[in-house]
Amino acid sequence: TASPIIAPSILASDFSRLAEEVQAIEGTADWVHVDVMDNHFVPNLTIGLPVVTSLRKATSIPFDVHLMITDPQRWAPAYAEAGAYNVTFHAEACDDPVALAKTLRAAGSKAGLAIDRDTPVEPYLELLPYLDTILIMTIKAGFGGQAFMPEMLDKVRDVRRRAQINDLEIRIEVDGGIAADTIERAAEAGADAFVAGTAVYGAADPAEAIRKLRALAAA
Ligand code: DX5
Ligand code: ZN
Repeated sequence: TASPIIAPSILASDFSRLAEEVQAIEGTADWVHVDVMDNHFVPNLTIGLPVVTSLRKATSIPFDVHLMITDPQRWAPAYAEAGAYNVTFHAEACDDPVALAKTLRAAGSKAGLAIDRDTPVEPYLELLPYLDTILIMTIKAGFGGQAFMPEMLDKVRDVRRRAQINDLEIRIEVDGGIAADTIERAAEAGADAFVAGTAVYGAADPAEAIRKLRALAAA
């Protein structure tokens, strides 16, 4: 697998100081993970396009936008246009993932597909050639601070196997409960991009937490 990407989730940061919180991980984080929730797809509400547009000007770290919203066809391209590096939408919310992935690439971002806890990955393996990232949830989407679910790693293994067989370049990202005591298992299963909210922004020194996670993932 490629060298590991560490993507701290600002969901666990102080929303009143977003620019500073992102600048605190400048130079250590590979991506900033931005959790967009609409209180429809998930029972929680966070931030949206205006915040992404404003925050984009505060940092040079690539944005990894995770859309936990219904109707991603309506909204996802605007995040690409706002300068997101990667835009990930949920399989459960989209009836034509290939079309949306193509739209996102045309709009200038990478395209990601997210698979929530209760969704099997098997039906989506044939879509891998159209995707830049596949996000395997290692919790049920909706809230930070939940316990990592190791049984989700079977999905990571299935994707990694298919990517190897078909010689595909795709980032396999995991999200939920990723911390020093879980990241190695996820890396062993074949993940090479790691979202971490609590483990980074809950740490006394976020930059040091990122370095530690990266070292564990690369081992
Ligand atoms: C939850 C979000 C996650 C969340 C992870 O639905 O998708 O990105 O921020 O938080 P931790 O790392 O605390 O589990
Ligand atoms: Zn997320």
